[in-house]
Amino acid sequence: MVIVLFGAPGVGKGTIGNLLSKDLKIPLVSTGDILRRNVKEATELGSEAKSFMEKGALVPDEIIIKMMQEEIFRLKGGFILDGFPRTFNQVKELENAMGNNSYDVINLKTEDDLLIKRLSNRRICRNCGAIYHLINIPPERKGICDKCGGSLYQREDDREDVIKERLALFHTKAQPIIDYYQEKGILRNVDASLPLQKIIDLIKDDSYQE
Ligand code: AP5
Repeated sequence: MVIVLFGAPGVGKGTIGNLLSKDLKIPLVSTGDILRRNVKEATELGSEAKSFMEKGALVPDEIIIKMMQEEIFRLKGGFILDGFPRTFNQVKELENAMGNNSYDVINLKTEDDLLIKRLSNRRICRNCGAIYHLINIPPERKGICDKCGGSLYQREDDREDVIKERLALFHTKAQPIIDYYQEKGILRNVDASLPLQKIIDLIKDDSYQE
């Protein structure tokens, strides 16, 4: 089973991807996580991507496609994609990589106001990457990860001005991709404002269409 989680910043791709990955026992491939890891480790990829990420811009296709070729080609069974594809070149690249294998594109949708509240209250574990929300999914101890005891931090691109840039960019790029997958008959819309378990159940029910 291959699932593409598509949707705006803050819609829940990472949170849902992690839950689904555990539930379905298939790996999650998150472009954002791979890029952030490379920035942290100061690799060549990280230094190429850093300035784009800080200002909320997309990292150029050639960098992302090379990175994903290495990630997708090493996977044998099913997987979940979070953050890829985001441009038409990336859509085509995924199609080439998938060949005749089928996949579902889950279009997670909700209002921008909710996304801004989610992103400005998001905190992430510096050690294991677990995702929290100060109000919806708070850690038991302030600033400390429940899972590993690591410290929680706010992402550089979760400042309100950068969040607005990321949302605006998403809205300029997303519709043609949504239309394309809709026409292919592989797009399923899911309301991302629902409780997490409900969203997981709807994604797993492959007959569900909003
Ligand atoms: P990336 O990390 O992919 O960022 P994004 O798409 O902006 O998405 P986010 O990670 O911000 O949000 P999410 O949808 O995962 O939400 P989350 O689950 O955390 O990319 C970062 C950057 O890398 C990009 O800006 C770009 O520069 C670059 N990049 C990445 N991929 C690229 C590509 N393919 N091409 C080019 N450049 C690329 O949830 C958000 C918050 O809400 C959390 O606090 C969570 O706890 C809470 N929450 C989520 N769902 C619920 C719910 N149902 N109920 C209550 N709370 C919820």
